[in-house]
Amino acid sequence: TRTIELAVIAGDGIGTEVVEQGLLALDAALSGTDVSVRTTDFDLGARRWHATGETLTDTDLEAIRGHEAILLGAIGDPQVPSGVLERGLLLKLRFALDHYVNLRPGRLYPGVTSPLANPGEVDFVVVREGTEGPYVGNGGAIRVGTPAEVANEVSVNTAFGVERVVRDAFARAASRPRKKLTLVHKHNVLVHAGHLWRRTVDAVNAEFPDVTVDYLHVDAATIFLVTNPSRFDVIVTDNLFGDILTDLAAAITGGIGLAASANINPDRTAPSMFEPVHGSAPDIAGQGKADPTATVLSVAMLLDHLGLTDAAASVERAVAADLAERGSLGRVRSTAEVGKDLAARISG
Ligand code: IPM
Ligand code: MN
Repeated sequence: TRTIELAVIAGDGIGTEVVEQGLLALDAALSGTDVSVRTTDFDLGARRWHATGETLTDTDLEAIRGHEAILLGAIGDPQVPSGVLERGLLLKLRFALDHYVNLRPGRLYPGVTSPLANPGEVDFVVVREGTEGPYVGNGGAIRVGTPAEVANEVSVNTAFGVERVVRDAFARAASRPRKKLTLVHKHNVLVHAGHLWRRTVDAVNAEFPDVTVDYLHVDAATIFLVTNPSRFDVIVTDNLFGDILTDLAAAITGGIGLAASANINPDRTAPSMFEPVHGSAPDIAGQGKADPTATVLSVAMLLDHLGLTDAAASVERAVAADLAERGSLGRVRSTAEVGKDLAARISG
């Protein structure tokens, strides 16, 4: 028997509501197996910050490190100054735990309505770099608040950081039927970083000769995501482009309530973290309106990462079946109802 040590960071707003349902799905997926989960709750986010002024202490981080994986709900609160929790907690976790592969599937499940009239078959995955780019906080401002203000945010791209994420993206592309990798950047303007990414993709392509590579500038990529999303298989891109593209990907595949993500440390030197792409949604928090599906699909990614592929598949199948029938239900279920239905399907 195996016990998975899971760190749970429910966080703010709807985070607690969706995580509760995610954990139900996890239990359902593992019931009848010899694998069990032991969860440790971490009180992190707005409440903790208001009470103590702390975002993520070294003690918290070391305790989290001792786990096999992390399930995170959502971080962010309108009562906390913008950037405090994002930088001090969420991004700090991604950086400190070396989550250099931010994996975000863009999949349109049968039965789900896309805002696109003819989306076709949509099944791609974005490999968003997670530890570099404009997210590193390498910047500063002078003469703030004056007409002479200058504010810089420098995008950091290292050969080491680009190569490791590009290699991971190639490996994923090689294991998928279409074996296609699209690099998204903007090398006609961001020439230094853009050329590093391009050269790296060309070089690593030699190790994966059966993967077909193409390239799109990020602006063109947004057009194709809307006009022809089936052209995409694996997309590899930097941290900020990936952030933007994956919200668009969520929008075309049924909305942010269905979009799952995994912050992966492929070298397994620290726990990976699984979270819905959506935020804390303070406008609907506490009302039982949030869709827990994105979190449940993130739990499937968690199971997959831990090598529990059958359990992962059972969660995905349950979600697919639920989504296929959602339209004919004739009513909108609460967060807990969706969670309960999904757990029942997983167990059933
Ligand atoms: C996401 C979020 C975060 C990001 C924010 C909250 C820092 O938008 O997970 O996509 O930009 O990565
Ligand atoms: Mn985002």
